[in-house]
Amino acid sequence: MSTFTFTDNRNGKSAEFPILNSVLGADVVDITTLNKELGVYTYDNGLSMTGSCQSDITYIDGGKGELLYRGYPIEQLAEKKKYLEVCYLLLNGELPTAEQFVAFEGSMREKRFPNEGLRNLFNAFPDDGHPMAVLSSAVSALSAFHHQHLNVQSQEEYMDMAIRLIAKMPTLAAYTYRHHMGYPLIYPDMDRYFTENFLYMMRAFPTGSTEISDVEVRAMDAIFTLHADHEQNASTSTVRLVGSTGAHPYAAVVAGINALWGRAHGGANESVIAQLEMIGSVENVDKFIKKAKDPNDDFRLMGFGHRVYKNFDPRAKVLRKLRDELRDTLGINSRLIEIANKVEEIALTDEYFVKRNLYPNIDFYSGTIFEALGIKRNMFTPIFVIGRTVGWLTQLIELKKDPSQKIFRPRQRYVGHTKRDI
Ligand code: CMC
Repeated sequence: MSTFTFTDNRNGKSAEFPILNSVLGADVVDITTLNKELGVYTYDNGLSMTGSCQSDITYIDGGKGELLYRGYPIEQLAEKKKYLEVCYLLLNGELPTAEQFVAFEGSMREKRFPNEGLRNLFNAFPDDGHPMAVLSSAVSALSAFHHQHLNVQSQEEYMDMAIRLIAKMPTLAAYTYRHHMGYPLIYPDMDRYFTENFLYMMRAFPTGSTEISDVEVRAMDAIFTLHADHEQNASTSTVRLVGSTGAHPYAAVVAGINALWGRAHGGANESVIAQLEMIGSVENVDKFIKKAKDPNDDFRLMGFGHRVYKNFDPRAKVLRKLRDELRDTLGINSRLIEIANKVEEIALTDEYFVKRNLYPNIDFYSGTIFEALGIKRNMFTPIFVIGRTVGWLTQLIELKKDPSQKIFRPRQRYVGHTKRDI
């Protein structure tokens, strides 16, 4: 076995630690006995150098700009597969056969309806509450309706728990939106595919027909696929951390939803459009780029940069293409696209951004498509939640099935007072 040697130069003591091979990407040094051997812990601000688990779900090569779900490139999945096929792939490890897909899709349809009592919850919220606050509360409430999932043991139970939440998330997100708008809550339509049903629930009224085009369903479906999983990002790590304590799986997902809300993470999609609006015109772009580069200004170019991608985010590439394809069919706001293109053009050639490998990420492009689909800005991050729920649950199930997994309990470097008396 290959090993890695750590030497403490203060006393010359050294110890060897096993190197564990990865199938793709960097190998990892197993330092679980570091403190026992050398009496120190590692310090890794932001955990950017730390592998917190072993996983066979998603792989990212940030240098190449590559993203694989269960080995399949994201570009192929977004173009050739439906979102629910991708959900099946993530949860089961393989793409479904036609028969498996029919059964999986059918079981999802049946579970779209939350308990009727849960609808009352929405009346308790003010109309102007942020949809992320309402959605996270609704999912939290759902854990009270399904306490049978607190002690999930078998594969069958895991699937039941996961399918229930994936199926209900669009319903809860649509209720959140409808409450916010003062619209009556309507029931899911059992006759429609997952994504079409979500668009229906966002648009429908108790009477009259609801227009939803195939192009819109395909665009939203691809967006869900692009958001489905992203290995150990902040919200997924949060889900794993909470899950490691033995909390209810839906409580772990609620924690993930709240982590996703932040503008450094999933909340960026809402901020990108707000920022493009604030820039206002192509002529103003230079001024804002200058602000983003100023070390004394905390203004950041939203939708740029990524902890892992030091190249184009492959999801962003797919979305950029999709946005341009949809420009005419969906009536995408061309003023915002013009500003976005100018921002992109300058940032991709400016030394500040080039030197720091700051490329557009997924959130830079998703907002313009959401707007074209008639979705209000504060619903952008809840849509990210719908797509990501399967990733959070797949990662949680993986954690639960790993017999070696311990409760997450990091250490610290203490810099406070030494012991003192009152
Ligand atoms: N605009 C201007 N400067 C930036 C930006 C930006 N968007 N992002 C990073 N930098 C600079 C940063 O100031 C730092 O400069 P210096 O070396 O001079 O101090 C350098 O680039 C490295 O940045 P960092 O903050 O150390 O990088 P990080 O890996 O900790 O942060 C990030 C990654 C995504 C939080 C950050 O790039 C950011 O805040 N971007 C804007 C928000 C955004 O678009 N978030 C969505 C991420 S993708 C969706 C998702 O997966 O959630």
